[in-house]
Amino acid sequence: MCGIAGYIGKKKASGLLLSSIRNLEYRGYDSIGMATISEGGIRLSKGKGKVSEVDSSLAFSELPGTIGIAHTRWATHGEPSEKNAHPHLSQSGKTAIVHNGIIENYLELKETLRGSAFKSETDSEVVAHLLEKNYSGSLKDALLKTVQQLQGTYAICAIRPDSKEIAVARNGSPLAIGLGNGENFIGSDISAFVEHTKKVVYLDDFQLASVKENSVELFEGNGNPVAPEPKTINWDVEKAQKQGYKHFMLKEIHEQPQVVRDSLSIPIPELEKPRKIFIVACGTAGYAGLTGKYILERYARTQVEVAYASEFRYSDPVIGPEDLLIAISQSGETADTLAALRLAKQKGAKTLGIINVQESTIARESDSVIYTRAGPEIGVASTKAFISQLVVLYRVAEKLSGTRIPLSPIPGKIQEILSQGEKIREVAKKYFKVYNFLYIGRNFNFPIALEGALKLKEISYIHAEGYASGEMKHGPIALVCDEVPTVSIAPKDAVYPKIVSNMQEVRARNGDVIAVATEGDSSISSHATDVLYIPETEETLYPLLSVVPLQLFAYHVADLRDCDVDKPRNLAKSVTVE
Ligand code: F6R
Repeated sequence: MCGIAGYIGKKKASGLLLSSIRNLEYRGYDSIGMATISEGGIRLSKGKGKVSEVDSSLAFSELPGTIGIAHTRWATHGEPSEKNAHPHLSQSGKTAIVHNGIIENYLELKETLRGSAFKSETDSEVVAHLLEKNYSGSLKDALLKTVQQLQGTYAICAIRPDSKEIAVARNGSPLAIGLGNGENFIGSDISAFVEHTKKVVYLDDFQLASVKENSVELFEGNGNPVAPEPKTINWDVEKAQKQGYKHFMLKEIHEQPQVVRDSLSIPIPELEKPRKIFIVACGTAGYAGLTGKYILERYARTQVEVAYASEFRYSDPVIGPEDLLIAISQSGETADTLAALRLAKQKGAKTLGIINVQESTIARESDSVIYTRAGPEIGVASTKAFISQLVVLYRVAEKLSGTRIPLSPIPGKIQEILSQGEKIREVAKKYFKVYNFLYIGRNFNFPIALEGALKLKEISYIHAEGYASGEMKHGPIALVCDEVPTVSIAPKDAVYPKIVSNMQEVRARNGDVIAVATEGDSSISSHATDVLYIPETEETLYPLLSVVPLQLFAYHVADLRDCDVDKPRNLAKSVTVE
């Protein structure tokens, strides 16, 4: 959450920083700001809105100087506004900082800074004032002293006009340094600078660094120097472009056949059958995990418990050395998932990360990691990462059970669904003004009902709830009326007759039904108002297909409602605060 960027070198910093925060914008986009050093002072520009909106009035790239920092914000403390936007300045205006994370003891620290006039409502501003107070000739030393006073999470970049360095520190919020030739870059993640360098130093928690034009010095939290270990990143810049699609989300939905193909050749580590598997994740990754429960229990006959990472970490889970915890995360930085992983490790469990972003914190902290091959996912709503997580879970089930699961026809079948894009848009046109939706599914398709509802609500702002269809009669059916359509996932599987009965119950109460059904099922149209067909497959594999029309349906509804599909309100792609 929040994107931070820095540049130090010989080029004009502002143009490079503008491109960095554009690339980081998916981390938050309620206000934007930049500070550069020029003629012995700090030049600052910031405002409320997305990068393009704020840049059109402030023209960031006019800021002079070859050292600078920038920020794209997802508000925690204080509403989105110019005064709360980063960078924040110290009282004298000589120190500028950008911060990602939450300073939990900021109110106590403010008490100790009574002489400083605070201009914002943020927790972050306290860092600028503390740095000023702690400065006595070395910005890095001032930052070291400052972070020792902070409680909470942070990734911080700081500059001063009298110091030819950017001082950076990390605890709980990601920070990477891109190593260039006579220049260095800083970013919350590598998308900030990957077009300039693929050589990266990742900071660990409690580390800090002094980044200069020609050097990067790394320090532990006690001030002891440590040798940086640069990694070379494999990242296709081209894949992070829209490539002619109207939105990243649409492009990413269309990449899914290739993502599945790529996922079929991911090496899966040898795994011993554990006593029990725990899966922890959040949001869409959590629904991949819930589908994983059905997959792993069916094939590997191992007991699987799935938990929201945010709940797992505050429970007292009965987990130990004979158990395996699987943490699923696209970003690899989700704060709750990371905390759940750490808790499981503390209790002696083995851990496996299923992660998309290379070298992310969860990937680095898991005992073993399987990298999904979804490539950069830029749309805030997760689509191709979900499919890749599912494929990896099927492949883990293969490994644990010694069974072969027939996944190879899946890419062609997804392609067939994608070719019905126009038909799905026509159905979306009938429903895009509706206020409430229900989504139902059973067995392997129950998690897909949850995921379909999440996709719709997050990008179109229509209220949508997913249920296990057997639960309808226990409450949700009270919502059914001619204004509340139900999306029913009804492929030809073992529970087909049951879900058809649920659809009839909805129709009997004047509710419209949009069915996701197997091609060739002509009788389904007598129980549904509209039908979206998917190709036939094994009943255990339907989630890989049934989710695709739901992604497209949500996309078209949101597009017809003129929503900002790739940057839905209030959301951020990487949730690094609790
Ligand atoms: C929904 C969505 C979120 C994420 C969740 C976890 O479309 O993208 O629900 O799935 O925030 O994020 P990661 O996978 O990065 O841990």
